[in-house]
Amino acid sequence: MGAAAMTTSHPSLGLTDDAIILRTDIESDLDVITRADIQAVIYVPPTLPDWFAELSASVEASWFQIPRTQLPSAARGDIETWLDINLPRGAVAEAVVELLKADILGLVDRLISFGLSSRFMLRIFTEAPTTECGFHVDTVPPGVPVHGLLRVYNGAGTLYTDARDIIDADAFFEYLGRRERLARERNEARADADIAGLCRIEQAIIELDRARPFMRTDTVPRVAPAGSIVAFKHADIGLLWSNTPLNAWVHCSPMEGRPRLVVNVSPAERAHRPARRSEGRTAH
Ligand SMILES: [Fe+2]
Repeated sequence: MGAAAMTTSHPSLGLTDDAIILRTDIESDLDVITRADIQAVIYVPPTLPDWFAELSASVEASWFQIPRTQLPSAARGDIETWLDINLPRGAVAEAVVELLKADILGLVDRLISFGLSSRFMLRIFTEAPTTECGFHVDTVPPGVPVHGLLRVYNGAGTLYTDARDIIDADAFFEYLGRRERLARERNEARADADIAGLCRIEQAIIELDRARPFMRTDTVPRVAPAGSIVAFKHADIGLLWSNTPLNAWVHCSPMEGRPRLVVNVSPAERAHRPARRSEGRTAH
């Protein structure tokens, strides 16, 4: 692993004692995310491939568009087929489409190489940043491996918190609960065309996001720049609101700027392990 390029932080959410966030310029370091003490690995390429510039310009001009899409449980072949059918053609050179497809499948292949899952949730979209989500942790279904990969191809970077900068888990989950409640109230105000309520709630969201009450005074979020690949721990949704220690990466999408292409791949199920004869049943 590229020790010279790393920074280390701990603890995670104030709950585990030795969570580590790595920043590295060596791609193979992403694989250490399977270590229990690693919360996230942020691989920042020293230089981006040439094709990123053409893709970025096209996404930011809204020529290259992908509607917000979620494939909840897809094998590699399903994802490849989906990309063949759905990656826009004509908005960038054909070679760029093929390079992007290979890049996304490379993310899937890295997760497959961990040997923990063979079906994945793919989330992919081009979209301008909004204030819909604040700081949060991503989740996986109960019992599913928690290692996922995120690549944002252009635009503003993803904010994240150094684990040392979070006051404690209670402070974070109090913020998260309040943020989610405000988001629900905003949706209700929109549905009711309640303009005054909407303004009040929007203001409350802005103030909460600005205050970041779960972070220690005089600390600021860090940035995973566009083009980086982040391998990060998700939270098992069955444990999210329990007292079980979590080692999940706290992050936030940017809230303004040009449209971005975002790809997120995470395990959808636990890999099946062949049953031993003594277990008296076959794997399914
Ligand atoms: Fe997220």
